[in-house]
Amino acid sequence: MKIGVLTGGGDCPGLNAVIRGVVKSAHREGIEIIGIYDGFKGLMEKRYQTLTPHDVQGILPKGGTILGTTNRDNPFHYPVKERDSVVYKDESKRLLANVEEMGLDSVIVIGGDGTMNIAHEMAGLGLKVVGVPKTIDNDLSATDQTFGFETAVNTATDAIDKLHTTAESHHRVMILELMGRDAGFISLYAGLAGGADIILIPEIPFTIEGILKKVHARAERGSHFSIIVVSEGCQFEGKQVVEGENQGNPYNTHRLGGIGEVLAAEIQKVSNLEVRTTVLGHLQRGGSPAPFDRILSSRYGVAALEAAKDGVSDRMVCLRNGEIRTVSMAEATHVQKSVDPMGELVKTARMLDISFGD
Ligand code: F6P
Repeated sequence: MKIGVLTGGGDCPGLNAVIRGVVKSAHREGIEIIGIYDGFKGLMEKRYQTLTPHDVQGILPKGGTILGTTNRDNPFHYPVKERDSVVYKDESKRLLANVEEMGLDSVIVIGGDGTMNIAHEMAGLGLKVVGVPKTIDNDLSATDQTFGFETAVNTATDAIDKLHTTAESHHRVMILELMGRDAGFISLYAGLAGGADIILIPEIPFTIEGILKKVHARAERGSHFSIIVVSEGCQFEGKQVVEGENQGNPYNTHRLGGIGEVLAAEIQKVSNLEVRTTVLGHLQRGGSPAPFDRILSSRYGVAALEAAKDGVSDRMVCLRNGEIRTVSMAEATHVQKSVDPMGELVKTARMLDISFGD
């Protein structure tokens, strides 16, 4: 048997641990693993290599992906050069032909919702495919947790800890802008773990008055500094703040970013508070995976290989109530997960005197 493995979409800590899990367990089963470079692009361009246990030695603690990734090259909307310009075409049939030529019985696709959507559509055309969910955003509904999230929360919590000391020394309001797209999980978890004073997430609309109420209440109690954590996907005046457009990515058309600076300007307009903004950005996607993510990734890798070996297709491995299972990709890509505004974690935060700016 010959099984391909690729990583698609934005990277996150734990991808290498999945690849290692796939390769090591395949070796035990006598299955050949073909590592495909740069996601679906590598399948389009036939760039790949056989992976042996030797190739995955020492990669467990490494962030990123040894295979490379891209969140732009979608075979259904693929950039093709025509004369002096680039046009986007449906090249999915070419991808299928390449897979056949490579002799792959199945492809293990490690990615977020965009990658899973492509994998699901390819399965509809006959490709045998098993998905592995990844994203620091933790916004996939079919799984209790995605790997990469825990590590991102650790990094964000560390940033909040560091901001606390300088905020207190200077009596400032410090805003920390975090990733997560339309879901507030990273901000909620890191905000709770770091003891933020205000957590702003896309799921709970806030007002500048709500934010100031909390900041002033703290000042009255003698705390002349505040830490505000804000998710990049929060809306201000009914709109998300967008940094740029993503060319060639129909699943994720714009790049979020900038809400932190917008808030800082708004707070300064109506108060004499000194405000500073930190955008943690891609630091949240880097670094060595936390032990939880290494273990979850390894479990996913072994389970995905097992599923592909058994001929399972159009399904994604997932974590449900602590157990590894598979779900249909249609289900996996159907609904995005978001923070429950009435859920236990939000209630806990409120009981701890954390404001959501509402
Ligand atoms: O989905 C993961 C993520 O890091 C989001 O939190 C963020 O909005 C986006 O990817 C950034 O993407 P890029 O690396 O393409 O700028």
